[in-house]
Amino acid sequence: MLDRNRMPGHVAIIMDGNGRWAERNGVSRLTGHNAGMESMKEIVRRASDLGIQYLTVYAFSTENWKRSMEEVSGIFKLLVKFVRLDLDELDRENVKVCALGDYSVIPDAARKSLEKTLEQTRDNTGLQFNIAINYGSRAEIVRAVNRMIADGITEADEETVSRYLYTGDENGNVPDPDLVIRTSGEERLSNFLLWQCAYSEFVFTDTLWPDFSPEKFEEMIEIYQGRDRRFGGRK
Ligand code: FPP
Repeated sequence: MLDRNRMPGHVAIIMDGNGRWAERNGVSRLTGHNAGMESMKEIVRRASDLGIQYLTVYAFSTENWKRSMEEVSGIFKLLVKFVRLDLDELDRENVKVCALGDYSVIPDAARKSLEKTLEQTRDNTGLQFNIAINYGSRAEIVRAVNRMIADGITEADEETVSRYLYTGDENGNVPDPDLVIRTSGEERLSNFLLWQCAYSEFVFTDTLWPDFSPEKFEEMIEIYQGRDRRFGGRK
């Protein structure tokens, strides 16, 4: 049983397997991403209902530009659709949407939709939903170093580095993820939150992202609750 008093404060998800789901179901990859977006929405709702404070999803990596133009532009069109259909509901639910990554270079319509979302939900105080878009962890760390240099910082400690990451000052200093979930049977981090995941628990499932459900989400949180976190210390 899920223990409501021991919920992870921050859950990060690598939503993987849309392509394989599409192949298995004999539909286009874009139909797979569309189904993936539906899963994402259900998980946002459930995370909010469970009182989780931060949910971060890997929606588009700096490496995803290597995919076909059709697929890339399709994923960004989904973002526009998501905002058009779901922004008001998110807002009513008091969800604050933030973006991690350099979204200045994504297609115009998607960038504008995203900016509208960030603006409209800026003062919300419920779940903080971070969408990693054109995000890569190494690029994030390099950017942090360069921003520190530009600010004249000559010596940094861990707290300073944390503040200069996308998860730092500019997005309200997001605490490190307690739990990282990756779907579709892959068990790697793929350049996602490398610094922030130093002490995170990892839970994997073979379920493909479009088949991932709120029930499955709760199951994975239960697995997390069964783990013994020591943060390098002794019990
Ligand atoms: C991984 O599946 C998924 C992605 C690269 C895109 C994730 C996008 C969504 C869930 C919906 C879009 C939402 C927003 C907010 C833009 P894959 O294609 O790598 O699957 P595969 O490994 O089976 O090919």
